[in-house]
Amino acid sequence: MGGDRRLPGDGVNVAVIGTGRVGLVTGACLASLGHTVACMDADETRVAMLREGRAPFYEPGLDDLVGDGLASATLRFVDTVAEAVQGAEVAFICVGRPPVGRDDRSLSAVEDAARAVAKSAPQGLVVVVKSTVPPGTNRRVAQVVATERADLEFDVASNPEFLREGRAVEDTLRPDRLVVGASGERTLDALRRLYEPILDAGCRLIETDPATAELAKLSSNAFLALKISYANGLARLAERTGADVADVVDILGSDPRIGREFLGAGLGYGGYCLPKDVAMLEKTASRAGYDFGLLREVARINDEAVEAVVRTVEEAVWNLEGKRVTLLGAAFKPGTDDVRAAPSLTLARRLLDAGAEVVVWDPKAAKHAAEELPALGISEDPYEAAVGASCAVVCTDWPELRELDLGHLGGGMAERVIVDARNALDEEEARAAGFRYVPIGRAAD
Ligand code: UDX
Repeated sequence: MGGDRRLPGDGVNVAVIGTGRVGLVTGACLASLGHTVACMDADETRVAMLREGRAPFYEPGLDDLVGDGLASATLRFVDTVAEAVQGAEVAFICVGRPPVGRDDRSLSAVEDAARAVAKSAPQGLVVVVKSTVPPGTNRRVAQVVATERADLEFDVASNPEFLREGRAVEDTLRPDRLVVGASGERTLDALRRLYEPILDAGCRLIETDPATAELAKLSSNAFLALKISYANGLARLAERTGADVADVVDILGSDPRIGREFLGAGLGYGGYCLPKDVAMLEKTASRAGYDFGLLREVARINDEAVEAVVRTVEEAVWNLEGKRVTLLGAAFKPGTDDVRAAPSLTLARRLLDAGAEVVVWDPKAAKHAAEELPALGISEDPYEAAVGASCAVVCTDWPELRELDLGHLGGGMAERVIVDARNALDEEEARAAGFRYVPIGRAAD
């Protein structure tokens, strides 16, 4: 079974359903490992763009992989599931999973993809769910496929991704661990062959059951969010008690059992994954009859982080009405042009509602920010963005910020005030440039 679809040199014939950040990166990376990959997307414009070698979003190294894959014909783009799965040994479901909504249709894209794959699946296909999903989804996918095609021999497995935006190619090709949740040896064998070069390089493969793999993925992201909210909770406490949160988390994080990463207090976490995954894990728990209230607190503290910055800006400029505020950074984190669930935009909305004029500078995401929030002013130049502003707020910890000439920045401002909502700048330098410098997580001077 599946043997007739093996490629020379152990390459695997792969279908990828969905060319979002996960699907496209997965497809392009698998092609670079020597497999033959067909990536499918229902959006014809996107497929046309990809056929020309252009990725629809920014991700370091991705354009090159797509170009190489097209040139060597190991990677192709199609607009029907039938074409993608034809002759495939493994089909990855990488469709988007919108935020948990009231109507609870957030997994319908996964169900639709499973049904479409089943319709045209060759015998022996291994259907792998890569989208982040609650435990139990693999079982549902297997039911959908079996209902659609009673004649089909197939397997379903979970193979969650742990890729970060801005490092997605690197994280895919050199992951910390590979997780496969599968029940059959044949499926495990197919996935081991797929990832052979990565495993040969020493990456640990954790083989488990599908529900465990699904829960492990969701809980990894929720734990990262928990660490950030813990730091933000400490920031609120530090502001009230005269402590300095930056030092507190340094001391905390130097204990290897805790670790320094993801203890950065500031504007809170955003992006396509963390907020959604916290909500999905909480909902999964509540449906299963467990009240995981800790996760609601994680989300609440994250919302509060933005509110704390709104109050700090208000405190700094007094009346917001008619004042200009410059946001330094819009992307939900550095290294990406993504503004989905970006806390900077929540802050911008709150400032606009209070009557301020808001101008944003971001090296990559300014255009997307303005599309999301047309009332925003944008500028490609940080110095121009700051002209006439009563306050500049650091929203994203871009390395470019540390290259800024703060004297020049302050020269054009109505008042030299910086609220450093990522604790990213050098305080001495800001003060030397004549700024009133307001960090996060420290009592006001
Ligand atoms: C995340 C996970 O890290 C990744 O493993 C998963 O597969 C997808 O989701 P990503 O969404 O790219 O990746 O963002 P991440 O790098 O985790 O950052 C998430 C948010 O946390 C950003 O808004 C970032 O600014 C914020 N953050 C991070 C903090 O506020 N403080 C920190 O100390 C670290």
